[in-house]
Amino acid sequence: MYAKFHSIGAYVPSKVLSNADLEKMVDTSDEWILKRTGISERRIAKDGENTSDMATKASKLAIERAGLDISEIDLVVCATVTPDYFNMPATACIISDKLGIKNVQAFDISSACSGFVYALSIAKAFVESGMKKHVLIIGAEKFSSIVDYTDRTTCILFGDGAGAAVISATQNKEEAFIDVHASADGSYSDFLMTPAPGTVNPVSQKVVDEGLNFVQMKGNETFKLAVKTLTKDVKDILAVNKISSDDIPHFIPHQANYRIIKAVGDSLKMKEEQVVVTVGKYGNTSAASIPMAINDIWESGRLKKGELMLLDTFGGGLTWASALLPFAGESK
Ligand code: ACO
Repeated sequence: MYAKFHSIGAYVPSKVLSNADLEKMVDTSDEWILKRTGISERRIAKDGENTSDMATKASKLAIERAGLDISEIDLVVCATVTPDYFNMPATACIISDKLGIKNVQAFDISSACSGFVYALSIAKAFVESGMKKHVLIIGAEKFSSIVDYTDRTTCILFGDGAGAAVISATQNKEEAFIDVHASADGSYSDFLMTPAPGTVNPVSQKVVDEGLNFVQMKGNETFKLAVKTLTKDVKDILAVNKISSDDIPHFIPHQANYRIIKAVGDSLKMKEEQVVVTVGKYGNTSAASIPMAINDIWESGRLKKGELMLLDTFGGGLTWASALLPFAGESK
């Protein structure tokens, strides 16, 4: 049994937070943000619109586009670091309930921006082992809930959104995943973190006073490591599978910063039309960034059935992952 990437869906909140809006909130400028990150605007979920709400909308589309009935989904995995609740229940359980999926295994994974590709590796293993047939994987984030909008070094980067995919069993090797690599190095855990809430810093007055519930990032160090790790990771997965970067019509990297995407694309000698870039309009949506980008090119008709995708991501943990696979759903 093989695993195939069966369908894609995404949800983007309607509220736009532009660089001009941020200029009114912190000491920054449209020019600085565009030049350093390539970001013009990002989307922000409404009050009361939670991670599970965005994820449910993306999931409905993915299930419908796979031509499946809700009852056929036999596993739900949600990648998020901004869950509806930080301890329990898992957001995947809430999404399952909102979708009407009953009595099915559902759990979250926490791998920050690498979450969606980590979830792909989990779905692949469940499907190839014969344990599951149609796995719903989701990357969904409400980063605006953990961003300090007085901190110019982080608030310009992040946005909200959700993407989902159905990974299904197939006996046709032509449409199967080629490879997924996923890895981590916890010695860099302080590069990107939210210090609270957790067992180290349970909720307290100190947490609120010191803003320990907000995302903290060593931006410059993370940037350098991201370029190095992402480049090595894609070169490795291409070499192991004896595929040239020329043969990849869709390189879909994590959308954190245009300069990172450009540096990795250039080192692979990718042409502009091979590299998918959505960071300008959505910012960094962490685990949602790659499925939102896949959905964008599918909806615009750019991604067709059978075409190869190379995914590459990097995030808090630190974690990183890459995947090489054909799009096995119907073209739009
Ligand atoms: N507006 C204006 N000036 C700013 C801003 C801002 N928004 N933010 C920082 N600056 C200033 C700094 O204070 C600094 O000033 P100084 O030289 O007087 O000290 C100067 O700009 C340069 O700061 P750097 O941090 O060196 O800027 P850099 O070019 O590295 O860009 C950025 C910062 C955009 C954060 C970049 O480092 C980056 O993208 N890092 C990687 C992020 C990433 O990939 N994260 C991983 C995934 S996220 C996840 O897993 C959830």
